[in-house]
Amino acid sequence: MKKVPALLLLELCTVYHSLGLSHEGSGAMYPNSNNEVVHEETHYTPELDYKYPHWCRTLKLHNGHMTCSSPRGGNYRNSLGTRCALSCERGYKLLGRSSVQCMSNRRWSGSAHCRVVRCHVLSHIQHGTYSCSRSFLVHSRCDYSCFQGYQIEGDRYRVCQEGGSWSGAEPTCADHDPPKLKCPLSRVKVAEPGKLTATVSWERPTATDTADGSLQILRNGPESGLEFSEGQYVIRYKVYDQARNMATCKFTVHVEVRRCPVLKAPLHGYLSCSSDGNNYGAVCEYQCDAGYERSGTSTRVCMFNRSWSDQAPECMLMQIKTDLRSAGALLDQFYEKRRLLIVSTPSATDQYYKLQNIMLQRAGCGLDLRHVTVIELIGMPPQEVGRIKEQFLDTEVIEGLRQALQITQSYFNMVLLDELGIDRERFINPTTSDELYNFIEEYLLTEEEQERLQLNKNLCD
Ligand SMILES: *[C@@H]1O[C@H](CO)[C@@H](O)[C@H](O)[C@H]1NC(C)=O
Repeated sequence: MKKVPALLLLELCTVYHSLGLSHEGSGAMYPNSNNEVVHEETHYTPELDYKYPHWCRTLKLHNGHMTCSSPRGGNYRNSLGTRCALSCERGYKLLGRSSVQCMSNRRWSGSAHCRVVRCHVLSHIQHGTYSCSRSFLVHSRCDYSCFQGYQIEGDRYRVCQEGGSWSGAEPTCADHDPPKLKCPLSRVKVAEPGKLTATVSWERPTATDTADGSLQILRNGPESGLEFSEGQYVIRYKVYDQARNMATCKFTVHVEVRRCPVLKAPLHGYLSCSSDGNNYGAVCEYQCDAGYERSGTSTRVCMFNRSWSDQAPECMLMQIKTDLRSAGALLDQFYEKRRLLIVSTPSATDQYYKLQNIMLQRAGCGLDLRHVTVIELIGMPPQEVGRIKEQFLDTEVIEGLRQALQITQSYFNMVLLDELGIDRERFINPTTSDELYNFIEEYLLTEEEQERLQLNKNLCD
């Protein structure tokens, strides 16, 4: 008869459990205390006894079931010829033979064991975690949860299925919550006194996000703490969290320059103002032309309520005193204020004088613009007359002037004195207003007077 190959013993699965997957299918023979392996003599010829109930060892399958049928009937589970179908409980997988038979050599025809079914270890997910009811064993349910600020997307849980695979698919944790960003309030700032700018500062906004700790905030527009010129500014802030959710906010800064009405220069005078002329805090100084005197305050300030302090002063023609006894006293009044054109003629009927008189009458405004006062000395003693416009001079003053300035009374002549009383030019022929103007402008006027003259020239038209 054919030699029976070494038969595998049906082993208990407990040992395999602790050894894990690497021993799967190794088919190693394993003795144990319950079922001792009996090495029988190869020449042993069994006496086949179909009635003996313990022909083979008692078959055991942990976490499994067997259904046996014996030629002798249901109770003879180890008798010769008995065939057992092996299966495992739920959650266990059968390794080995699914059916064995008790053979004539008193051994079972194969072995099997039940190994617990496991699913693979679930990997960790970003921004979240999971917890399982029964580790990675069959029927274990693993519930996923996301960290604060993240929402779960996909399957909320996975179950380890009997086949050893997980149900569903791995979920993800996503951040859909935009960060929160709060801007400061919009503001109006008035330019500082005497300036056209204002320094504007604000508290930089801070952002909060459910998922991210520190966030970088981007600004679009001017920075806090700068000097702003007049106008409206929009400052925007923007922030992204790591999931690129965005938050924005904006506010406005309005810099206002408060202004008073523009002041007009006084008649026969001028204004010089600080800063921009009529902005809050600007100071304007009133000055009068030479020969004019200011009545009232010299400076006015543009106030916060957009009005000027005080009242506008006026420039009044200087009062000339003619009831004086000496030429010196008369001249002193004009010192540093007015130029003098002294016209002297032997008589009012002198042809040169008459001609000059006509020309001077037309030149009155022009001479005034050039700060020239005309003094007329007419006739010879004892009928001489001296006058400044309609004001008459004392005889002694007339004589004094003629002597001091060496003005002859024998023929028509004119002397031009500058504002310091210095004799600058003499004329012995009638002279046109243009000739007089040209001389004065070229030799006597200061630069400032020239400029003012250009501005006011049309006043005489
Ligand atoms: C502006 O303020 C001044 C003094 O503070 C006051 O005298 C003046 O009346 C005010 N003007 C206006 C237009 O309110």
